Amino acid sequence: MSLTRCWRLWPTADKTVLPCRWLYASLHTSSICKKSHKKLQYSIGNTIEILGKSYETDHLTNTTPAILKKVGTNLHNTPGHPLNHICRRIETYFNSAYVRRGNPRFSVYNRLSPVVTHEQNFDSLLVPANHVSRSPQDSYYINSEYMLRAHTSAHQRDLVRTGLDAFMVIGDVYRRDAIDSTHYPVFHQLEAVQLFSDFELFSDMPNPESMSLFEPGVRDDNKQERHTLQTALLLEQTLKSCLEGLMRALFGQDLQMRWVGAYFPFTHPSWELEIFYQGEWVEMLGCGVMEQKLVDSAGATDKAGWAFGLGLERLAMKLYSIPDIRLFWSTDSGFLTQFKNKNFDEPITYKPVSKHPQCVNDISFWIPESFSSNDFYDLVRSVAGDLVEQVTLIDEFVHPKTGRGSHCYRLVYRHMEKALTQEEVNSIHQQIEASAAEQLDVQIR
Ligand code: DAH
Repeated sequence: MSLTRCWRLWPTADKTVLPCRWLYASLHTSSICKKSHKKLQYSIGNTIEILGKSYETDHLTNTTPAILKKVGTNLHNTPGHPLNHICRRIETYFNSAYVRRGNPRFSVYNRLSPVVTHEQNFDSLLVPANHVSRSPQDSYYINSEYMLRAHTSAHQRDLVRTGLDAFMVIGDVYRRDAIDSTHYPVFHQLEAVQLFSDFELFSDMPNPESMSLFEPGVRDDNKQERHTLQTALLLEQTLKSCLEGLMRALFGQDLQMRWVGAYFPFTHPSWELEIFYQGEWVEMLGCGVMEQKLVDSAGATDKAGWAFGLGLERLAMKLYSIPDIRLFWSTDSGFLTQFKNKNFDEPITYKPVSKHPQCVNDISFWIPESFSSNDFYDLVRSVAGDLVEQVTLIDEFVHPKTGRGSHCYRLVYRHMEKALTQEEVNSIHQQIEASAAEQLDVQIR
């Protein structure tokens, strides 16, 4: 998982390096926030419609029509779609492993609107006000109050507030990112939370009445200040055995796994789970003991719990050998029929429909001061849709005399369902050049 895709945002002891984009963002957050996005499709004071509601645009609006078109697609709820197969497999695991008085313990929320407030997406999860993840370069803002959720964690606090103590949230999430075979600005996550009262957590211990969830203590690498060591250890144990069981249920009983320490603003301690699959270690999910401050803020002051979040495309790409993330959005029968009418727990290996040749075209331009690569990636998505397989920044330099910056990007065009002609590619490429010049203030070289 690239760092831009996750919330492991402050370096941990073993991972001290942040990519430049994060460093840049952390140093310039305030100026980025002030940056005008009028060049991206909307002007201030317009309204945009999302799922039947109107939102007034303002200086923060950076959603594009191409992105808004994806909202409401509901791939994860579409029977026969690989993402739906995966969800059903995960739900089946939870429903058999976690039962309360004969009923599934975890409730499933898979139709929550992806439109959330900034407060839900960040503040409710204790993400600091100046945190790099809030940069408009990385998220899709609808306006100064609303955004498209960047993760399903955005619903944690509100669902706990409704009184739930075990739930899953499944849904589409939106992040501005690079263009390649594993990144797409919309993808899907599955989130789960389980809370325990002292009675529930200590029920298997010899002297449950003598044990307590909380104590005034100190925070260290292994626990939060409010939790007893027993609380922290039992939460860790139940969380890890739940997730190891889930991965074995999906990938087979002999699966090799390892836990890696991580950082998230909303959990402590936190981990990532990696699996050894087809010869390499692959990061599968993030998880941890929920920050007690978050649990308390949701009114569950007598409970402690754990949470995790995983990316469904990443899981499905591994499990079904799907080579390109754009395929999940394909309407072509060559892809869909390989999953449709199959039982969700049947082993399926995707057989690539013949790959059509790629066309490669470069584009070079002088950039204005406020330029960000993600603005260009969004523009490419808006103009070319899924015809672009990959965009790579292959050269950048600053002119020694004028001080102007220049970027050169390589665009790889390939249709997943038919061969593109050179004329078609040229025409799209020219449209990208013209739109970039007009909307991003770049000067084509
Ligand atoms: N929201 C995180 C992300 O998008 C994933 C995650 C990590 C979810 C830890 C959690 C958690 O619930 O406890 O990268």
